[in-house]
Amino acid sequence: MLLTEIDHVAIAVRDLDAAIDYYERAFGATVEHREIIETDGVEEALLNVAESYIQLLTPTRETSPVAKAIAKRGEGLHHIGYRVDDCAEALAAMIAAGATPIDTVPRPGSRNTTVAFIHPKGSFGTLIELVQESAKGH
Ligand code: CO
Repeated sequence: MLLTEIDHVAIAVRDLDAAIDYYERAFGATVEHREIIETDGVEEALLNVAESYIQLLTPTRETSPVAKAIAKRGEGLHHIGYRVDDCAEALAAMIAAGATPIDTVPRPGSRNTTVAFIHPKGSFGTLIELVQESAKGH
């Protein structure tokens, strides 16, 4: 089994501060990490749920894939991040199983992770992100 944890459930929102405020008031959740990822055109806030995160995600520019997703489908679930020990190994296994990769090689993600995205087409409609934490793997 290559998956070690649900790393995060990513939710696309228009107003990050409003979404954070809602999660804080509703669940008593706290933001562990907040980061603008320029290459992806997004700002994220990570809220802890045990060893996993809710990732609230908002676009920082109109050309961002998240901006396009919100324009097309509205706010809501955007992707699932599965934690793996070795992103390259997991990506190769998914491709061998017939997945359509968006990233053909792993690349840097937020908070010093290594990530690769898999297209929803061919993965039963879910955008999948493989997440390798920097402390793990090799
Ligand atoms: Co993600």
